[in-house]
Amino acid sequence: MRISVGSDHAGFLLKKELVSVLTGLGHVVFDLGCFSTDSVDYPGIAAGVARAVAAGTADRGVIICGTGIGSCIVANKIPGVRAALCHDLYSARVTREHNDSNVLCLGARVIGPDLAVEILKVWLATAFTGAERHGRRVGQIADIEAEYCKGRPQAPPEPGGGR
Ligand code: RB5
Repeated sequence: MRISVGSDHAGFLLKKELVSVLTGLGHVVFDLGCFSTDSVDYPGIAAGVARAVAAGTADRGVIICGTGIGSCIVANKIPGVRAALCHDLYSARVTREHNDSNVLCLGARVIGPDLAVEILKVWLATAFTGAERHGRRVGQIADIEAEYCKGRPQAPPEPGGGR
């Protein structure tokens, strides 16, 4: 898959590790920064990762900040993005199966690198179930989003498109 990845200073070291895991798994990684532990604001970087997914340049996105929360808030502002903050394996699996999440947010100050790697692997490997009820609910998310996107031509990815 093509995966856009970004972090702020708090997530930089974990991002480095996850980029190397992703590359090792054969994914194409677009690293959108940051590139040091110097303090940087997370909104612009998180938006960049999410925009790449919404535009279809990337199949999935991964964003890491201190808690993962700020990044998740930002990513979910981008139409077509369903970002999930996951700090456990159950959520990582079920957010793919039920929500078809296309962006994963992680908090580098909340979990250790080994768990982050496991969460990433499960999230990447799990498919959207495609069950009618989950497709319907994801469609309802898109409908709610569309209410706030009037006048903005946008074609959010189809449910199941976030492979
Ligand atoms: C940076 O100190 C921290 O606020 C940021 O990494 C993130 O946790 C925001 O949600």
